Amino acid sequence: MKKIISVVGARPNFMKVAPIHRAFGTYEGQWQHSIVHTGQHYDAAMSDSFFADLDMPHPTWFMGVGSGSHAEQTAKVMVGFENVCLEARPDCVIVVGDVNSTVACALVSVKLGISTVHVESGLRSFDRAMPEEINRLATDAIVDQHFVTEQSGLDNLLREGVSSERVHMVGNTMIDSLHYAMAKADRSDVHQRIGVEPGTYCLVTMHRPSNVDHPEQLRMLLGVIASVSSERPVVFPVHPRTRNKMAEIGVQLPESVHLIDPVRYVDFLALMKSAAVVLTDSGGIQEETTALGVPCITARTTTERPVTTDLGTNVLVEPREEAILYAMGEFTAGRHKKGVVPPLWDGHAAERIAAVITAHYS
Ligand code: UD1
Repeated sequence: MKKIISVVGARPNFMKVAPIHRAFGTYEGQWQHSIVHTGQHYDAAMSDSFFADLDMPHPTWFMGVGSGSHAEQTAKVMVGFENVCLEARPDCVIVVGDVNSTVACALVSVKLGISTVHVESGLRSFDRAMPEEINRLATDAIVDQHFVTEQSGLDNLLREGVSSERVHMVGNTMIDSLHYAMAKADRSDVHQRIGVEPGTYCLVTMHRPSNVDHPEQLRMLLGVIASVSSERPVVFPVHPRTRNKMAEIGVQLPESVHLIDPVRYVDFLALMKSAAVVLTDSGGIQEETTALGVPCITARTTTERPVTTDLGTNVLVEPREEAILYAMGEFTAGRHKKGVVPPLWDGHAAERIAAVITAHYS
């Protein structure tokens, strides 16, 4: 039996790995799939509940690296993951997404000579000020196989010189999880708990360093959120990075802004599905709103997921007051994109990944 390890570290990794774990489970006797949790995210709302919501087994290894500077966090993940690989001797390592744990583990496994694959490969924002862009570029430069979610990923990799037989267009495992967990999300009582009517509110998330780390920028965004809340209630689950920065600048928001702690995955799906509109700077939420057909305004200068603006419901706006409020006004006037679901975002991406990896070993 061959051994395969998938790495999770931060919140957006969990929903990408859960379907992969399930898919390898159907190859009984051929594969033993295990999960390593680096501990990059450690708050229960950022980590633990995702295992329950996605019916994922507990990780076989938990490294508990926690927060730190990029160098510190990346270095701790590398040291911990090298020990895991030396102990477990996997035949293949899967890294997903673009967080610090992704690049750290890819570096370790490639250097140990372990076949390494990247899921959600090839995405590019072309903005090297984003830590995630550096993580994506570095990971894609060294891994053996690339699984892509959209055409732009394929085009970017080929342009960067990756040979086409190493690139596989399989769809989006994050959308596999969305399909899987939607029945649970439909039973969520999150709207009652918060006190908002489904279909009426704007759901907000903000956590990119470029938006929240500079007091002026954060103050501006909170002002925008306050003005949106004069038209409709706002639900704003606050990422710990943002919470810390908000505490530093001490801004008061109106009562119609429901500031809440990060919520578990199924509750977030329920909030997204029944939002009137979403305002975000996240990567994954651009994709999830496109899959759900919910209008999304992304306050960033670039997106590494152009299919969400080309085909989906996402509009990209400069993270400036007038630009965001203009986009919000367009939404209120009924001029928002209807969008279609991108090719292969059908809930079966992980099965395709497992099939390609299995074929590679047989
Ligand atoms: C990370 C990813 C980002 C992803 C985001 C999703 C990188 C470079 N960034 O950003 O791509 O979109 O996760 O959530 O990997 N903290 C806690 N509890 C936690 C985790 C973090 O309080 O469980 C606080 C710490 O103060 C920490 C800060 O949040 O310093 C930032 O955490 P970090 O893991 O460095 O990056 P994120 O901003 O979460």
